[in-house]
Amino acid sequence: MPSERLQRIHQLNKAQLPRHVAVIMDGNGRWASERGLPRYEGHRAGMKAVREAVEGAIEVGIEYLTLFAFSQENWQRPRREIAFLMSLLERYAQSECQDLVDNGVQVHVIGELERLEAGARRAIDMITSATREGKRLQLIVAISYGARGELVRAAQRLAQRVSAGELKPQQIDEAVFASELYTGRWPDPDLLVRTSGEYRISNFMLWQLAYTELFTTPVLWPDFTREHLFEAVLEFEQRDRRFGRVSS
Ligand code: FPP
Repeated sequence: MPSERLQRIHQLNKAQLPRHVAVIMDGNGRWASERGLPRYEGHRAGMKAVREAVEGAIEVGIEYLTLFAFSQENWQRPRREIAFLMSLLERYAQSECQDLVDNGVQVHVIGELERLEAGARRAIDMITSATREGKRLQLIVAISYGARGELVRAAQRLAQRVSAGELKPQQIDEAVFASELYTGRWPDPDLLVRTSGEYRISNFMLWQLAYTELFTTPVLWPDFTREHLFEAVLEFEQRDRRFGRVSS
């Protein structure tokens, strides 16, 4: 183990770890073009970084890791790139399944999954079912996900409950609203990591990020390692989270 990593991980205070870390994985295309490669090579290289993030999260003891893998807006990309990304997701499900089970990882997938082709949906069913006993890390993968769409869906579901007479409009509070989001049963992210030096939320978890600490790094996603995750967690631990209150 490199000494730098030993140091970083030992600097972490287990009592102040973020419970939930979310990641906007960005920069695969730029990583590829810097090397004169087609964009899909960047996505392929990004798979190694996914493994690093998952193993790093387990190593530190993070309970929830959300990875933004494919947005609603990504459907506008060239058909071949979309097909490649979907095949990567299927391959990930097949090749990583046993390791995820052995490491106690439970996989959840959120997003408008109805838009996915049958093969991708089967892969998702397979991996979510095979990993359902995992207790160490909850790995939430957002695919065909957009936060505005998620909020509209929640509003529709609440409206249906009201019109069915199950719920009164005045009973809709923040907790009831949040329970209709894809993420209803999980805590909000404490820390959001975005790679490739961009400072945008990009329609990701607009409700859930209300009090999330943001960490951006210029590192392109394929170059992201567990040490970068530890660095983000270390910085998180040094932040003063006030949630609108004064410092303790
Ligand atoms: C952003 O880079 C990355 C994506 C749109 C895809 C991320 C997907 C993976 C790494 C593979 C599958 C993931 C899992 C969880 C199995 P970009 O193409 O937007 O890069 P650019 O901004 O440089 O063009």
